[in-house]
Amino acid sequence: MLRTRCSALALVALLACVAAPASASALGDGQARTPPMGWNSWNHFTCTALNEKVVRQTADAMVSSGMRSAGYRYVNVDDCWSIRDASGRLTADPVSFPSGIPALARYVHARGLRLGLYSDVGTQTCAKRPGLAGHERDDIDRLASWGVDYLKVDFCNVSAKVRRHPATAYRRLRDLIARSGRRMVFSICTWGQGSPRRWAPGAGHLWRSTGDLRDTWQSVMRNADLNNRHPRQTRPGAWSDPDMLQVGNGGMTAREDRTHFSLWAVMAAPLIAGNDVRQTSPATRSTLLNREVIAVDQDPAGRQGRRVSSRHGHDVWVKRLRGGARAVLVVNRGRHRATFSTVLRRVGLPRARRYRVRDLWRHRSRATGPVLRATVAPHGVAFFRVRSPRP
Ligand code: GLA
Repeated sequence: MLRTRCSALALVALLACVAAPASASALGDGQARTPPMGWNSWNHFTCTALNEKVVRQTADAMVSSGMRSAGYRYVNVDDCWSIRDASGRLTADPVSFPSGIPALARYVHARGLRLGLYSDVGTQTCAKRPGLAGHERDDIDRLASWGVDYLKVDFCNVSAKVRRHPATAYRRLRDLIARSGRRMVFSICTWGQGSPRRWAPGAGHLWRSTGDLRDTWQSVMRNADLNNRHPRQTRPGAWSDPDMLQVGNGGMTAREDRTHFSLWAVMAAPLIAGNDVRQTSPATRSTLLNREVIAVDQDPAGRQGRRVSSRHGHDVWVKRLRGGARAVLVVNRGRHRATFSTVLRRVGLPRARRYRVRDLWRHRSRATGPVLRATVAPHGVAFFRVRSPRP
């Protein structure tokens, strides 16, 4: 079912839907004013191939590849980094992280990057490593003392009470992080369970709206569709998260990877790369480092773009940008190359005879009339920044 509640409304209501201000409040501590950008170990390395050497080499590669200068800031170690020692203290796994987390934090910080770690609100993580339950205050103080800058907290192995009231458990963690005195971006990962859109904007900086993203076209479209259901909670400091990127992991074509990246950008999703950035192909690099697409994602107005139409095998997504321009994304979901037309005054732009159009993948500017036409390859996109000429 591709149609959204919004797209079923009349045009006037639809435009209000695109432009409406957000309702619930964000954490407001000044962090994550634009969607967090970085890298996470899970999608490529999972449990089996994760170790401190990989993380260090990744930090180096993020600098040398230009990722850091393009805005990728967080180096996030996901599940499988931890154990509890004999006295119950949270500790780095001595086999895979023999130098410990403080040394890793120093290494990452010395490269102008920030370190993220992962835990779980239950007794164990999804991969059966130690969870926070029963150790919340000690563990968070320990992470803070190590210099951790970002904490993702998962939702496996939780009690029935936490399952029923996730907001209470995650707000408690928020308060313990604040009490620790260390500024950390707090990433809430309940996979959309427990209606995080209702409480997570005031509890963390980002919240997962979906199950795990797999490295397939179907999974990308599914998570985009799910994340599109509730776009109005997104704002500076509060980001709906359809999961970490699969760009460059090999399950999709380069064109599908570009579509994935464009969708995440139009939705103002966190851009957390999930590939092996130590050996990025030129195609993957040109996707992850497309600064014009990144600028749409990072637009300071902090609005989540949404799908405004879905018909004849193509979707049109629109994101309102600071200053009134619109990012317009045309996605060809079909199997054939096709030319699509979008009436620009229908996507929230003022009525005009000419518009300025910037093609964000071809890096070319042009003028167009009231109808924007784009020929799009199967599973591909055309992505534009459009504004009406200055009066
Ligand atoms: C869950 C999360 C993933 C990842 C794994 C680790 O599935 O949704 O993002 O953190 O756990 O076990």
